[in-house]
Amino acid sequence: MAEILESGKIKRKDEEADITTSEHLKADSSVTGNDDKASGKTYCDEGQMGVGTAHDNRRKRKICEPETGIPEKKMHTEAVAAHYNKLEEVGLKQRSLSRIFHLRNFNNWIKSVLIGEFLCKVRQRKQNINVLDLGCGKGGDLLKWRKGRISKLVCTDIAEISLQQCEQRYQEMRYRGHQNEQIFGVEFIAADSTKELLSKRYKDEKMYFDICSCQFVYHYSFETYEQADMMLKNACEQLCPGGYFIGTTPDSYELVKRFEASDTDSFGNEIYKIKFQTKKGEYPLFGCQYDFYLDGVVNVPEFLVYFPLLVEMAKKYGMKLIYKKTFLEFYEDKIKNEEHKMLLQQMRALEKYPADSNSGLVSDKKEDYEHVEILKNNGKLKLPLGTLSKSEWEATSIYMIFAFEKQQ
Ligand SMILES: C[S@@+](CC[C@H](N)C(=O)[O-])C[C@H]1O[C@@H](n2cnc3c(N)ncnc32)[C@H](O)[C@@H]1O
Repeated sequence: MAEILESGKIKRKDEEADITTSEHLKADSSVTGNDDKASGKTYCDEGQMGVGTAHDNRRKRKICEPETGIPEKKMHTEAVAAHYNKLEEVGLKQRSLSRIFHLRNFNNWIKSVLIGEFLCKVRQRKQNINVLDLGCGKGGDLLKWRKGRISKLVCTDIAEISLQQCEQRYQEMRYRGHQNEQIFGVEFIAADSTKELLSKRYKDEKMYFDICSCQFVYHYSFETYEQADMMLKNACEQLCPGGYFIGTTPDSYELVKRFEASDTDSFGNEIYKIKFQTKKGEYPLFGCQYDFYLDGVVNVPEFLVYFPLLVEMAKKYGMKLIYKKTFLEFYEDKIKNEEHKMLLQQMRALEKYPADSNSGLVSDKKEDYEHVEILKNNGKLKLPLGTLSKSEWEATSIYMIFAFEKQQ
């Protein structure tokens, strides 16, 4: 599937492009949110490749060493920081009008369930839980940490203004909290995690974490080996034995598959677009840049993360991969649990189809709900139900989840 060439590039032969999705996700009557019921409780904030043969390993290991041969790349981190700093804090009301309202909620549900899973594992062996939120943004996950009753949170991001908004959110959360509630302590660190060693900035240099959560961030580091390694070091070096490095990132298999299937240098739909800066068939291990656009939310350079390489690189910090799953695989696995299903409703992660008479659907296009109509006509399900529009599903199904564990 993926061959590492002597030149330090990878050549992938991916399966034919086929943007399939689960019927469960695209149309599931059992998770239909009763909007009236759900609205009061809305909990809504911000929003592979198998390692090759033994024969490949020698070359892979070589690639994992810091190489002088890696061509110097133009750094994009300043652009990323400027972009995220510019993004305005949008209120819940305005967010609910967004074309990607359900997609954002769905992504948020994924993060909630992932974070919940690993907090639960740690909780089984200890009470005081320390977390590093690497690339925390405006603090979209603060409520999840509160719900998880952690003790200490270190929030870090390259975008200073985002970090200030995160701090403000934290203060509001504390202010609004119940009198008797013990809310976790925090530290905020504005830093480029691909270039700076974070441990030097912790109040306590010997600070240890039980979880490092890196949500929709790690792919920014894959510009050069040195940057990817530094972010990994920041994520993993200060983890306790048995600690976890968890996150979400675009699935490079999926991206390459869609790119190879497209007739041009880009692919997407009306809500997302990805434009590759490399030629088809040639994907350098680092600095394989694409520009990502999502309904006005993100439009900055990102880099392909060749996952088997990340797995190899993580070994240097004593990390072992526990699992990696596409969003679809994760959803199918987690939705079997009633609590997760309830949360999906509360977070309004799926859209009610057909819409109530007083509200419209997020998309006017019939094709966006064709999957539901087909299943209905086949007698496979009854309306109303919860679904994602096809365009939103195509955008969210780019992502994958990973979880590593620090070895004893
Ligand atoms: C898509 S946002 C995700 C924010 C948050 N994790 C969430 O899930 O809501 C990506 C974040 O990564 C941050 N980021 C990108 N490159 C970074 C770097 N080199 N060091 C630290 N943060 C970085 C951005 O500033 C931005 O806040």
